[in-house]
Amino acid sequence: MDIKNIIDKKSKNKELTKDEIEFFVDGYTNGAITDYQASALLMAIKIFGMTEKETFALTNAMLHSGEIIDLADIGMVVDKHSTGGVSDTTTLALAPICAEAGIKMLKLSGRGLGFTGGTIDKVESFKGYQVEIDMGKAKELTLKNGACVIAASKNLAPADKKLYALRDTTATVESLPLIASSIMSKKLASGADAIVLDVKYGNGAFMKTKKDAVQLAKLMVKIGENAGKKMDYIVDDMNEPLGYNIGNRLEAYEVIELLNGKKGKLRDVTLALCAKCIRLGLDISYEQAYQKAVDALDSKRALKRFKQMIADQGGDLELFKGLKLKPTLKIKATASGILNKIDCAELGRLVGLMGATRQKITDQIDYNVGVRTFHKLGDKIEKGDVVFEVFAKNKEQANEFAEKFLNCYHIV
Ligand code: URA
Ligand code: CA
Repeated sequence: MDIKNIIDKKSKNKELTKDEIEFFVDGYTNGAITDYQASALLMAIKIFGMTEKETFALTNAMLHSGEIIDLADIGMVVDKHSTGGVSDTTTLALAPICAEAGIKMLKLSGRGLGFTGGTIDKVESFKGYQVEIDMGKAKELTLKNGACVIAASKNLAPADKKLYALRDTTATVESLPLIASSIMSKKLASGADAIVLDVKYGNGAFMKTKKDAVQLAKLMVKIGENAGKKMDYIVDDMNEPLGYNIGNRLEAYEVIELLNGKKGKLRDVTLALCAKCIRLGLDISYEQAYQKAVDALDSKRALKRFKQMIADQGGDLELFKGLKLKPTLKIKATASGILNKIDCAELGRLVGLMGATRQKITDQIDYNVGVRTFHKLGDKIEKGDVVFEVFAKNKEQANEFAEKFLNCYHIV
């Protein structure tokens, strides 16, 4: 086989065979195929798309490039995946709720990237919480508590890692089959039997419209089902932060508030995801599953379980007694009106720049920095109302970011 012929074939909009796709993925991963050859093929794929058969083959080839976790010995395992949001703490709330309902969930989570936070950074804001535990121990904890959240191994779908880095620099990220196969190769490597996808759309997400999000979700569902998994999805609006807090410790605290009964969009989306996970895991109706989730949450059983999960992985429980952080600066609205647009991605990006996410791999995260918001789209705001509480490293940093935060709100 010759990579030149494969590129030529795709550039003429002809369907590639499974063998040709495997040849490409293996060759690129082991260095036999160069960056410029891979770039040319990726661009042809971006332009002409891929058939479902090609997309399945690409996913499968990337999936088999690394470790595939075997969870067969702990029974039916359910997983949830979000395409990345701002103020999205659903994983941490969902895990103990689903666990209370009788589901097993061994979550392999990631760190923050760009404007989106990462579950691992959030959970590490419980001081001492161990994210790097071995699989044997993680399975033990999953059997004990129903859920366990650990950091994803670096060896899940390494082909995707290499291809994604190349796509990022060659304007080939934006392709439905490339995105779907990239996400699903990693998910399928994580060993769950059932997967619920949370695909975001809006200015704070990859997909800008609901229609595109549904299309991506449906393609990922097909890939999962083709691989023998039970699949479901929701799509979710990211034109505003999901919760009210952005920043690691602030978001971890919002999970505790949610498990204590706080109402709002974060709760609604969490319950919808829980219901889908529980439905797949227990093979019951959506309505029955939803009720189980509500019962676990409202009885505070999920809160108790969350505390146990954190404690069992060495995390400090101080945050359960209340948020001790004090805001460095309160920002007030300079005009009255309706909040009609939020630059959601920019809000996430600013909190990241304050130190909540790594800008370089060697950066140290500041778990305490962040911002608390008080309004949702459509809310009426009066001049002088506090719109942001900024939790900064110091006064100078708070002042430096104040106007930038205010510019994220369009009040008319
Ligand atoms: N997230 C991924 O993991 N891969 C993509 O291609 C896009 C988003
Ligand atoms: Ca299993």
